[in-house]
Amino acid sequence: MEQFPQPIRKPEIKYTKLFINNEFVDSVSGKTFPTINPVNGEKICDVSEGDKADVDKAVEAAKEAFKLGSPWRRMDASKRGALIYKIAQLMERDAQYLGSLETYDNGKPYMNAYVEMLFSANILKYFAGCADKVGGKTIPVDGDFMCYTRHEPVGICGAVIPWNYPVAMFSLKLAPALACGNVIVFKPAEQTPLTALYMASLCKEAGVPPGVVNVVNGYGPTAGAAITGHPEVDKIAFTGSTEVGQIILQAAGATNIKRTTLELGGKSPNVIMDDADLESAVAWSHEAVMTNMGQCCVAGSRTFVHEKIYDQFVAKSKEMAEKRTYGDPFEFSTKNGPQVDKDQYEKILELIESGKKEGAKVECGGEAAEGKGFFIKPTVFSGVTDNMRIAREEIFGPVQQIFKFSTLDEVIERANDTQYGLGAAIFTRSIDTAMMFVQGVRAGTVWVNCYNAPNYHAPFGGFKMSGIGREMGEYNLSQYQEVKTVMIKIPQKNS
Ligand code: NAI
Ligand code: MG
Repeated sequence: MEQFPQPIRKPEIKYTKLFINNEFVDSVSGKTFPTINPVNGEKICDVSEGDKADVDKAVEAAKEAFKLGSPWRRMDASKRGALIYKIAQLMERDAQYLGSLETYDNGKPYMNAYVEMLFSANILKYFAGCADKVGGKTIPVDGDFMCYTRHEPVGICGAVIPWNYPVAMFSLKLAPALACGNVIVFKPAEQTPLTALYMASLCKEAGVPPGVVNVVNGYGPTAGAAITGHPEVDKIAFTGSTEVGQIILQAAGATNIKRTTLELGGKSPNVIMDDADLESAVAWSHEAVMTNMGQCCVAGSRTFVHEKIYDQFVAKSKEMAEKRTYGDPFEFSTKNGPQVDKDQYEKILELIESGKKEGAKVECGGEAAEGKGFFIKPTVFSGVTDNMRIAREEIFGPVQQIFKFSTLDEVIERANDTQYGLGAAIFTRSIDTAMMFVQGVRAGTVWVNCYNAPNYHAPFGGFKMSGIGREMGEYNLSQYQEVKTVMIKIPQKNS
């Protein structure tokens, strides 16, 4: 495997403290919390546990770094871009280590983790190129005025990130924030604190000035809430559950009207028409929900299959799921590792039981795998109907729900019958069918004859309760900028 270097099975843990003002420091309280290896449930190490006092320190450092006249504020935009590019290069240099560390802490297959590192470096490179291209406009206003806009940084950004793609989520917030000249305080997920700390060390190595990037590990209701409720944090970028998204939006409103971008949950419909290329649709639909052990906001977790091909589709999907390898995530042949933690594992198993009770048919899997870790067998449910819990709730596990439908109109209506609107897909050979679906479905991204083809050039985000705002691509930049309008009176000859 030429492009995949061998994993480091037991990567050295280099950083476990909080990162504030370019230094690794203990938490004010001195408290720590364990991070667990989900393959066997054993502790990897203890990490400093931050809370309000540490967030206050981090925000203070960020505020200092953002002062007018500071090295960061005086840095040329082109130099900022070069800095971001340098971070990307360091990530590429260390992709083997970073990928291994992510696998160790998160449990995802090393091959996927390694690809995530390269993808994340590309996100940084994309936004590095944007840094000196985010100018404003000159506007032909009425009267004797010159009007122009300045696109200025929002200020102190708070980023609360999840555990499913720890480095990608970190990069998705870091890159546009820095490109637009902001400073940032991160709160990584408590399940996966290690790669964020290493990323912080790379920022320092690249030459990011003190206080510009800070990382406070800790739990959501303490460290996370201290950021979202901080009166001097100007903006929040959050990825995680819809439930916590609602809490964060309230905190943002209750404190200082923080600009808030939310990338939340989904129950994304994936529609297979009877004219689709069946083999291809089965394979994409399988990956749509099994990738990253189903721990993906945009998982294709409602597979709608046309009645004419339903039985065939179910049989082939079952066959694929039965063959999906699970086990040691450091093995190149492993497709599924464990779920990230015991809570997620138990939540998924409980939802699987609800599916059985409510009358869906388990085609395969439907239970935990033997052993100590948080492994769940790839599961396929057929005969799923719209009101079952497995049809409505985000499972976030390797569990495929297959529904039956008859007409396009019907399936569009059923696809939209959800509080979510993150992704959607259709498999068909008819351009008319595809275009009608694209128009009718309420989702932030629609795929045609593919699923979850991620691309950092294109905007990503949700309709409805799947979120607010867009990440990635040029659209993302406006979410890290304030627009300042400048009006200048032009003296006239005869006045
Ligand atoms: P979560 O939404 O609780 O956690 C995400 C982040 O928010 C973590 O950093 C957490 O510490 C923080 N957080 C939690 N409560 C907070 C609060 N009150 N204030 C500020 N920050 C807070 O997600 P969790 O508990 O890990 O997973 C629960 C479910 O959420 C999953 O089963 C899945 O359905 C969904 N989820 C969706 C994700 C996505 O990519 N959209 C990512 C992770 C989870
Ligand atoms: Mg939670």
